[in-house]
This record gives sequence, C-alpha cells and structure tokens, in this order.
Amino acid sequence: MSQPIKFAYWVPNVSGGLVVSKIEQRTSWDIDYNRKLAQIAERSGFEYALSQIRFTAGYGADNQHESVTISHALLAATETLKVIAAILPGPWTPALAAKQLATIDQFTAGRVAINVVSGWFKGEFRAIGEPWLDHDERYRRSEEFIRALKGIWTQDNFSFHGDFYRFNDYTLKPKPLQQPHPEIFQGGSSRAARDMASRVSDWYFTNGNSVEGIKAQVDDIRAKAAANGHSVKVGVNAFIIARDTEEEARAVLAEIIAKADPEAVNGFGSEVKNAGAASPEGEGNWAKSTFEDLVQYNDGFKTNLIGTPRQIAERIVALKAVGVDLILSGFLHFQEEVEYFGKHVLPLVRELEQEKLASLAVA
Ligand SMILES: Cc1cc2nc3c(=O)[nH]c(=O)nc-3n(C[C@H](O)[C@H](O)[C@H](O)COP(=O)(O)O)c2cc1C
Repeated sequence: MSQPIKFAYWVPNVSGGLVVSKIEQRTSWDIDYNRKLAQIAERSGFEYALSQIRFTAGYGADNQHESVTISHALLAATETLKVIAAILPGPWTPALAAKQLATIDQFTAGRVAINVVSGWFKGEFRAIGEPWLDHDERYRRSEEFIRALKGIWTQDNFSFHGDFYRFNDYTLKPKPLQQPHPEIFQGGSSRAARDMASRVSDWYFTNGNSVEGIKAQVDDIRAKAAANGHSVKVGVNAFIIARDTEEEARAVLAEIIAKADPEAVNGFGSEVKNAGAASPEGEGNWAKSTFEDLVQYNDGFKTNLIGTPRQIAERIVALKAVGVDLILSGFLHFQEEVEYFGKHVLPLVRELEQEKLASLAVA
C-alpha cells in the first residue's frame, strides 16, 4: 500500500480514438497532437505512455503510426515521461527489438520500455505474410522473445538456443542505459499470458474488469510468481470519464454506446475470437465481452472509472487495495481530459492514499 499508484495513458497513434463510436472525439492520431499530449501528460502526473502496434485494422483504426518510431518522437518531446513501445514477436525479432530500444534508451536518458504483444489479429498477420501461431504457441514464442531480450540486454557473449530464436556468442554494444534493463510489459488475460508474466515479465497489463475480476487475476499471478521466485507488477486498463457530476459522466457513456458503429464493433468482435476465447481454458481477453464492452477495444468501461473525480479516486484506491500498481487510461478528448484528470482526480487519489497510510499507522 505504500507505493503511490502510477498512471499511464494510451498513446492515440491509431486513428479513430479509443472507442469504436461515431461520437465526437477531440483526439487525433497525428504527431503534433501526440507530442502536445505527452507534454500535458507529464505535467499532469502521468508516469508512462503506452503506444499501440497495428499494421492494419478495420474497426475505425484504419491509419496507424508505427509504435517504436512514435515512442521515440514522444520521448524526444518530453523530459520525464517513460514511453512503452509495443512490439509484436513475428514482425520483430528479439535482435532487432533489443538493438532499436537500446539506442533509444541511450538517446533519451533511459526512458524507454517495451510492451511485448502476443497478437490476436490473424487477418493482420495474413496481410503482412507472417505465420499465425495457435494461442498458447504465441505465448511460448513471446516468452522466448523476452528471455532472449533480457539475455542480450544484460550479458556479453550471449548464446541461446530456443525453438523460435537462436543467438551465438552475441554481444550488444552499447547496451541500454537502464539497469538491469528497460522495463518489460506484456498484455493479455489468458492463463498462458498470466503464466508467462509470472515467469519473465516485469509488468502484466490486463483489459478492464471489475475489482473482483482484477483481484482474481492479481491473486493468481502473484501466487504463481512467488512460486517461481519472480515478482510482477500489474496494470489495468480503464476508459476514464470524469465529469463534475455522475449524471454527466453516465450521459457521455450512454452517448458513446448509442453512437457505436455496429459494423466496426462486430468486425472487431469476430477478430478477437482469435485471442482470449481461443485459449484452451477460454479465460483470455474478450472471452466474455459483450457488444457494449467491445465499443472500448480493451474492455475499459468494465473498470467503471466513470463518474465524479471523487468516485473515480475511490475506485482507483480500491483497485490499489487488491494489488493494482498502475492504471492505464483512455479518454474521449485526450488532451483536455488528461489535464482535467491531473487537476481534479489525481490529487484526490494521493489524499486517499495518505489517509489510508495514516489509518494503517494508527491501527
Ligand atoms: C494493455 C494492453 C495493450 C495491448 N496492446 C496491443 C497492441 O498494441 N497491439 C496488439 O496487436 N495487441 C495488443 N494487445 C493484445 C495482447 O497482446 C493480446 O494479444 C491480447 O490481449 C489477447 O491476449 P489473451 O488471449 O492472453 O487474453 C494489448 C493488450 C493489452 C491488455
């Protein structure tokens, strides 16, 4: 309970904003908008920004800037923000990712991180001529990817002989500035995703969910990590709608849903069947998502950070109490709402955290 909860925002480097809806979104995927947003975010108390990797998409996200490139551009435009570059094993090899990110880390005083994305979009892989692996095989490859990445970043004369990757006496120079290495995030909710996180990842990112749903994941992952002698932090996605009154916030959500683009949402819904629902146990991301949930493409409404600043702050502290270390946030009008969040919600979160600490000290 002692570490303040951290905040990240989704970099809108993909067109169409973070909801698949025709509602007005004063958010742009262009670089000027994104540079300014990154500056607002670091001033507003956000510690991380997460870029998205997409080569193709048909759910309103038709245009996309590449994630490593935009991550570097945002790092160059900021001073303290850490930017997490999303990388897909398949198109990327660990050799390329290790080299690219080591260089960026050198250029940006050690502020880059990586999100290893295992993939859910078969159509995208087919379009770019990449083989599509089964659900759990994708995670087996991602785990080798992470093990190789850590080896390259921390060792000289690195050798590795896996099923997917091989290295022979390789020494990366220069290595990243960050010690022991840039932070490694991963996304996913399935058992394979959790098992991988409990062995090799620094951070586990999951889709939005209720406090109970998140608690079940956190308990599972922490127990498994402890058994492996590993520790892993947890980040949860949330689409935040903070307004002066709860009615206003609820009305915004209702309008987002009412103006959802059914064709795009259903198209996305059928593609994600290649993700969580395709895991052997059927527990992964989107396995149980309804049409309304899918309007925010990482189930961000489920986390229910929708209401007044106080309601939202209380729910964030409740998530922290079940073991969440970071809130990954999306907004309708990013620049305006990141600023509002920093002014009106974040100070309340810090107050509530202090109150909780004080009450623990008295008890
Ligand atoms: C926070 C977060 C960020 C993600 N970012 C991307 C991304 O940028 N590109 C992508 O193709 N998939 C992304 N994913 C998808 C995951 O890598 C994974 O394929 C998906 O969550 C399904 O995992 P599961 O079957 O283990 O639940 C992201 C997932 C989460 C939770």
